[in-house]
Amino acid sequence: MGLSKPTPIQVNCVPPILNGQDCIGCAKTGSGKTAAFALPILQKLSEDPYGIYALVLTPTRELAFQIAEQFKVLGKPIGIRVSVITGGLDMMQQGLDLAVKPHIVISTPGRLSDHIQSCDTFSLKKIKFLVLDEADRLIEDDFGEQLEAIFKAIPKKRQTLLFSATMTKTLESLQEIGMNKPFFWQQKSETLLVDGLDQNYCLMAADVKDAYLMHILDKFTEENPRSSVIIFTNTCKYTQILGMICTSLGLNCVILHAMCKQKERLAALAKFKSNQVKILIATDVASRGLDIPTVDLIINHNVPSRPKDYVHRVGRTARAGRGGMSITLVTQFDIKLIHAIEEFTKQKMTEYKAEEKKALQILVEVATARREAEIKLDEKDFGERHAINKRKRLILEGKDPEKEEKEKQKYLKQKHKAWKKQRTKKTKT
Ligand SMILES: Nc1ncnc2c1ncn2[C@@H]1O[C@H](COP(=O)(O)OP(=O)(O)OP(=O)(O)O)[C@@H](O)[C@H]1O
Ligand SMILES: [Mg+2]
Repeated sequence: MGLSKPTPIQVNCVPPILNGQDCIGCAKTGSGKTAAFALPILQKLSEDPYGIYALVLTPTRELAFQIAEQFKVLGKPIGIRVSVITGGLDMMQQGLDLAVKPHIVISTPGRLSDHIQSCDTFSLKKIKFLVLDEADRLIEDDFGEQLEAIFKAIPKKRQTLLFSATMTKTLESLQEIGMNKPFFWQQKSETLLVDGLDQNYCLMAADVKDAYLMHILDKFTEENPRSSVIIFTNTCKYTQILGMICTSLGLNCVILHAMCKQKERLAALAKFKSNQVKILIATDVASRGLDIPTVDLIINHNVPSRPKDYVHRVGRTARAGRGGMSITLVTQFDIKLIHAIEEFTKQKMTEYKAEEKKALQILVEVATARREAEIKLDEKDFGERHAINKRKRLILEGKDPEKEEKEKQKYLKQKHKAWKKQRTKKTKT
């Protein structure tokens, strides 16, 4: 596979995992965390193979598929059987897959907890390993209810492995997930960002932002015909709109967001990964874990409000020792957010000078394309349809949509309160 020398996280975390310890590994994006947990699991599995041996949880579906690919490649010599259990795909088929006892199950929490509650053809009672990849995201965001159901279905005696590039604050929740004196390893570094990343910001007025984006994109793709670009936006609707603007300006792209059908999501990513299409426009659903070596530029169309998300977004480039560039589009309203990011990453961005004249030349064309895109989406009731479908699904499941929403809000409030209490306790001590 061309892996001749282990990376620091692999050198440090593989031995304690082989020794049977729980482990928390925190190292920068693109530093080989996946192999750091996959290799020792495969080693142990090869000594005593059975299914289901390990459960890997990830926050996003595409990441689950990517980790499964890595397990398949690394575990080929021992005839590894891997199942991916995520939302958006056929539950019946997944139930059958689980029933034949795959060695490794890689899953997003929601779908796995659905299977645990609705299906008795499989058991997680004998798993030896639980991995939370992108652990901070799983623990801090609203996966709590689903994780609870999963923790009830797995044995207390197991090894728990947590990995992420940003593990801040999470450590407080370790008691909750039952870790036993974990071995903790964190890469020592002044900054959270990788060395090979050239990070820039580009300042502009809000109403010319899309024209600047198209100009930067056009210039980059012309000058770097072999490179791929990911553009991050903050909403599904805007991802869709930018995709339509690109298409109407003759730039071939694919889009990825939570409201696309799962088959479309996987097909879009496959096209992008195989270099058929060089521009991917996505929400933060693509910001964690994805490993695509040809990505040389990340454009942040919006400035992420959580500095952590910034670190993961720009971490989709400059991986495994390669270089890469990021450009964050900044308007008069975003200055505070940029400062928060720079404080968090402990690194300043440099200014990227776009050619204003060229951006303004396409201003009318871009504005017209955007207006047309908005009209098309409004005609399709984009967004409303999603809410209606969600309601329909809940009703079909015999649930009351209003009650479900209230309970979700109540749970989130409780979780937030508990977290705040824990923090004040910690600050006092
Ligand atoms: N020992 C190694 N030598 C060279 N390349 C490696 C090594 N280990 C892993 N890689 C490669 O490095 C790339 C990044 O690895 P991986 O996706 O595991 O990073 P990560 O640390 O999980 O990043 P992220 O935080 O973004 O999820 C992959 O393409 C992987 O094949
Ligand atoms: Mg990873």
